[in-house]
Amino acid sequence: MQMKIIAGNWKMNGSVSMLQKFYEKLADVKTNNKIIICPPFTLLNMGTNSPKNLDLGAQDCSINENGAFTGDISAAMIAETGAKYVIVGHSERRIYHNETNEMVAKKASIAAANGLIPIICIGETADDKKAGRTLDVINAQIKTSVPAELSDFIIAYEPVWAIGTGIIPTSEEIESVHTHIAALIPAPILYGGSVNSNNAGQIMSIKNVSGVLIGGASLKLDDFLSIIKSTDN
Ligand code: PGA
Repeated sequence: MQMKIIAGNWKMNGSVSMLQKFYEKLADVKTNNKIIICPPFTLLNMGTNSPKNLDLGAQDCSINENGAFTGDISAAMIAETGAKYVIVGHSERRIYHNETNEMVAKKASIAAANGLIPIICIGETADDKKAGRTLDVINAQIKTSVPAELSDFIIAYEPVWAIGTGIIPTSEEIESVHTHIAALIPAPILYGGSVNSNNAGQIMSIKNVSGVLIGGASLKLDDFLSIIKSTDN
């Protein structure tokens, strides 16, 4: 199988000792896959000691370059830690922080201007899916969350109804949305939403799936390792 991107989104979880434990185990892992962990901002400085096969990414960045924005972290600050990636437009940011497609596009641009690779999240809600609007939503999100000038970026297709629920789309559904996205933009396309050590290998074998973005299962070291190994045979 070709090289896959395996990205863990730790959300608001993790600690120095937890990331250290991941480093110790990952240092021994031989894989062709690209491994990324996106821990909370407070751990990004640990990127300087990460094993060779692992890069760190942030989970968000400010829409602004710098200035009087209390609590925000800029893309330049993230880049200075040595992190290589930043997730933008995760559905939890869109839902809990009212982030719009336009804001996501601006964050992706600022991230790229600072040398980071944005991982731009898109995906339909359960209501969109029920109403048969999945591809319309995807089209609109790509049109307005992905800046036209962007060249080096990753898309994460995460159906909102699949995140943290244990419910995943069928392989046919994943293939059809990924193939649709691949025809619109030239970027690696990750699948995200309830990926675990039992389903990751199968999901990554689907056409036009370049890898996975994993939430809950990326917090469990053994599960994360087995997901990494699920394509290395
Ligand atoms: P999950 O989260 O794997 O826990 O469903 C995925 C995500 O939110 O990126």
